[in-house]
Amino acid sequence: MNVLLTGGAGFIGSHTAVALLEAGHQLTILDNFSNSSFAVLTRLRELTGKSLKGVEGDIRNLSLVEDLLRSQKIDAVIHLAGLKAVGESVSDPLRYYDNNVSGTTTLLLGMQRAGVKKIVFSSSATVYRGSQEGLFNEDSPLEPVNPYGRSKLMIELILRDYVATNSFEALVLRYFNPVGAHSSGRIGESPLGVPNNLMPFVAQVAVGRRKELAVFGQDWPTPDGTGIRDYIHVMDLARGHVAALERLEQGGRFDVFNLGTGQGHSVLEVIQAFEKASGKPLPYHFAARRPGDQAVCCARVEKARQVLGFETQAGLEEMAADAWRFQMLNPQGIV
Ligand code: WQD
Repeated sequence: MNVLLTGGAGFIGSHTAVALLEAGHQLTILDNFSNSSFAVLTRLRELTGKSLKGVEGDIRNLSLVEDLLRSQKIDAVIHLAGLKAVGESVSDPLRYYDNNVSGTTTLLLGMQRAGVKKIVFSSSATVYRGSQEGLFNEDSPLEPVNPYGRSKLMIELILRDYVATNSFEALVLRYFNPVGAHSSGRIGESPLGVPNNLMPFVAQVAVGRRKELAVFGQDWPTPDGTGIRDYIHVMDLARGHVAALERLEQGGRFDVFNLGTGQGHSVLEVIQAFEKASGKPLPYHFAARRPGDQAVCCARVEKARQVLGFETQAGLEEMAADAWRFQMLNPQGIV
């Protein structure tokens, strides 16, 4: 299929691009490079030996989006473009609602005008966050506790409403904790500024870019007292998008899938995996809990397996080894 991948130069986007190209799809990437580098596009062409069209632009530019959908004869959109830092969304909610929600409604208007009727949307486990703990399935109550999570839920509701009265198909993928990197080490997680997430912060400590890791709380009700999350290898996540696209080709209407492994790991287990991967001790200290955090957040993954035929392959050791290789080969990230 001819696919428009928004946010395709980012961490999830670049790995999804590799999986799509390797599956034989034609790819156009639209990215405003607000949290990624144009250099990623060159690396994608080198890595896959395939051609792809890269366009610098913003999903909030309706005429650009409509023209691109028409000129590239797009069959389906995989929509990853958006802001995703929870803490930042609390301090600057309007920026999150403008980029994520308004950006998506503009994209959908462009699709409507250009007659493009299929979308895969990147949602997040933060739509589940709230008073709950533990294992979440797709029917778990939705109660996001920050503007970032609320923006993702709003978009899911917009898609659900739009599909209800239009011949349009939308699949929503709720990511748990994507980590790791392509095994080549040529693309990976390269956030601008101080990483909010655990794995990129650990990688930057290991490579000497950061002094030491602060472990947010050691008194959680978990076996070792540290937070447990469902880490999924970013290449497994990428293959989940290919599976969703194939489902859309068969005619999917509206559906929601968790993308995770179903397996939880604690912060200390992540540290141990990284020490094994890098071959050196990782300096860390225990600090206070982070506001908004919770003890356990893991996915029930049966639905993606039954409906999409999707199953993850990589374990934590491989995630850490691939993340370390990327960080070692790109100490300052991709610039
Ligand atoms: C993981 C664990 C922390 C950093 C967030 C977003 C979610 C998604 C993934 C976008 C927790 C602990 C972390 C650190 C630490 N992003 N930690 N020290 O919070 O599960 O999810 O990222 O979709 O929307 O909410 O991921 O990597 O921030 O934290 O101890 O410096 O690591 O307490 O237990 P999280 P995370």
